[in-house]
Parts: sequence; C-alpha cells; structure tokens
Amino acid sequence: MGFKQLDFQEFSEKNMQSRSKTFLDEMSKRRTVRAFSDRSVPIDIINNCIQTAASAPSGANKQPWQFVVVKNRDVKAKIRQAAEKEEKEFYRHRATKEWLEDLNQFGTDWQKPFLEIAPYLIVVFKQIYDIKDDNNQRKNYYVNESVGIASGFLLAALHHAGLVTLTHTPSPMNFLGEILNRPDNEKAFLLIPVGYPANKATVPEITKKSFQEISTVV
Ligand SMILES: Cc1cc2nc3c(=O)[nH]c(=O)nc-3n(C[C@H](O)[C@H](O)[C@H](O)COP(=O)(O)O)c2cc1C
Repeated sequence: MGFKQLDFQEFSEKNMQSRSKTFLDEMSKRRTVRAFSDRSVPIDIINNCIQTAASAPSGANKQPWQFVVVKNRDVKAKIRQAAEKEEKEFYRHRATKEWLEDLNQFGTDWQKPFLEIAPYLIVVFKQIYDIKDDNNQRKNYYVNESVGIASGFLLAALHHAGLVTLTHTPSPMNFLGEILNRPDNEKAFLLIPVGYPANKATVPEITKKSFQEISTVV
C-alpha cells in the first residue's frame, strides 16, 4: 500500500470559530432518550450513520467492530425478554446500593419496553480477535478504545440525522451474541435503540461538569 494526497479543506479562523460553536450547540442538544415512538425510519439513514461510525480511527486500522441492525419484531421481542431477565437480577440482587442510588435520578427500572417499541436496535459488537481465511486468529489492538470511538461517531451521526438514541448496557450482555448468532470472536459492546422520541418524551434534568472542571491547559 502506498500513500495518497490528503483530502484536507482549510477554513479561515473566523469560520472555524463559527463551525466549532455550531457543532457544539448541535451536540449539546443530544440527550439519552428512554421513551420511543414506534414511527418507522428509512433504513438508509441508519446505514449512513453506521458508515460514519465505521470511518472512525482504530488501532492499526483493524476496525474491530460489527453493527447489527435489529428491525425484526420477533427478534426485538426476544432481546427485550432476555434483557429484562438480566435487568431484574441487576436491580434486585446484583447492583450495589451505591449504584442504585446513582441510577435513582434516571427513574429507570428492570422494564425495557423501548426494546420492542423503537424501530431499530443497533447492537455494536467488538471483535476481540480477527479470524483470517486460514482459520488463524489475528490480534486486534486497543479494541475497547476503537469501538468506543466508533460508537461515539455513531451516536453523533444519529443525532445529527435527527434521531434519538439510548446507550443501553444490560449487564451481562452475552444473550445478544446468542440471539443474533454472532461468532465467538465478537462480544456485545452496546445496545442502542434508535428512532423518534415518544410524543412529549421527557428526560432527566441533569447537568454536565463545567468547562473548568473538565479541561486543563498546561
Ligand atoms: C457506556 C454507557 C452505558 C449506559 N448504560 C445505560 C443503561 O443501561 N440504561 C440507561 O437507561 N442509560 C444508560 N446510559 C445513559 C446514561 O445514563 C446517560 O448518558 C447519562 O445519564 C447522561 O445523559 P445524556 O446522555 O442525556 O447526556 C449509558 C451511557 C453510557 C455512555
């Protein structure tokens, strides 16, 4: 593989200031939504967003991810059933008192109706190793970092497209690999319901840390 000219467009500083502020304003409106409408969404919008996610950087360009889009009602129902079984255990036994106290402000419990209501569930899988044609395993590098970045791109792209998402992590998530028949090298990373918000959906009133708290210049 050789090298090619970088496709780079330079903007004036004034333009960069305005572009960065516009993007900040847009991204600041993203919220995790837990009440979905069942309104349908054209799949090409979802596919574009997945391609944006797949444009992310990854350790040694291994692209150790797989995005499974679940649209089928029966499969969504199976996922809900399995997730609620794990979540019931989590809320009743597995979660520590501190964890439950931290979750209190979100009003969440073991019930996950959005897993059936949202038109799509995007299940992000991380590929902990690669299987080559000769059946040999090849190492992937910085898998969590890479898939985390790609998932961030995905959430940003879906928000930019005008859709809402929930970043969901039923724990443990092994049932997703089983229901979706994924190979052994893939582990479920995130379960992301996507769609329009329910009519008059509400979100918790939370605050983000101030810029001073999260940023340091040396
Ligand atoms: C890795 C990760 C896992 C999360 N898991 C859940 C989850 O299982 N259930 C849920 O309701 N929200 C979950 N969330 C959403 C967070 O609660 C939410 O992002 C946070 O409260 C901030 O709210 P915001 O996304 O509206 O800014 C998760 C978020 C992240 C990044």
